[in-house]
Amino acid sequence: MKIVITCHLPNDIIQPLEERYDVVMWEKSSEPMPRERLLKEIEDADGLFTNVADQINEELLERAKKLKVISTMAVGYDNIDVAAAKRKNIVVGHTPGVLTEATADLTFALLMATGRRIVEGMDVIRQNQWKSWAPFFLTGQEIYAKTIGIIGMGRIGLGVAKRAKGFSMDILYHNRSRNQEAEQELQATYCDLDELLTKSDYVVLLAPSTENTYKMIGKEQFAKMKNTAVFINTSRGTNVDEEALYHALKEEEIFAAGLDVFDSEPISSTHPLLSLRNVTVLPHIGSAAIETREEMARLACQNLLNGLEGRPLVHEVK
Ligand code: DGY
Repeated sequence: MKIVITCHLPNDIIQPLEERYDVVMWEKSSEPMPRERLLKEIEDADGLFTNVADQINEELLERAKKLKVISTMAVGYDNIDVAAAKRKNIVVGHTPGVLTEATADLTFALLMATGRRIVEGMDVIRQNQWKSWAPFFLTGQEIYAKTIGIIGMGRIGLGVAKRAKGFSMDILYHNRSRNQEAEQELQATYCDLDELLTKSDYVVLLAPSTENTYKMIGKEQFAKMKNTAVFINTSRGTNVDEEALYHALKEEEIFAAGLDVFDSEPISSTHPLLSLRNVTVLPHIGSAAIETREEMARLACQNLLNGLEGRPLVHEVK
């Protein structure tokens, strides 16, 4: 049987796959397998190891005559047409859990960097613009004991809430369902989206990408936020109307935004958002801690092996 791996992985991680199957792995570590190559390789593949950089859509699935398992090295699977895969009896695996803490860490780091203008501070020094200490030079927003509003209280949302608790923040959250752990252990308060937007100093978006969350934060929602609000998105870029965000930042309707994800990735360096002073951007590195990425890769390999050998996946997308 043949397995296609669309990214480059360390040898020790793919060893269990190589021992049993013919493995075709993309050799470059900084970019994914080109689409044309993937479309060709998938024709006779039994298993596919993928990630958020690939579009696993009808076009690809139609060519996949033998495919049995798709395993993505990610918790999010909005890049995979799961319904189309199911129609072809292809099982889909993903990697929840192992990336929770790393992504919560990065989300909180981005919150702090954006609120306290850390990247701007470094830019000022690099550009030789630091003239002297001055009373209101690079003043940001306090974090300690402020109000954080978390949209999407899943595993990562809960991880962010735990970190916020350490900063004595008041925690508001909005979610499809109530989260008892957040409420009982962290005294988080459930509220509707409008109330969260109006009351929060930090609005943190962690909702998965679905039909219901598409551009859920747009003009109307930015208008409800405080002028001092800091908006953080480490979920998916498609959850935000980027044009509305650009205007909210430019007109200083909100204080700043910290973004790890974009509508189209990689974001171009000429994108209007990057012309703004009050935006901190990262290249989708929420889970990019070495131990975490190794765990994700191992788990994705295990999902693939289980699927090909007829066992239940460790984490199947249902
Ligand atoms: C995920 O897992 O969905 C992230 O976006 C990539 O780590």
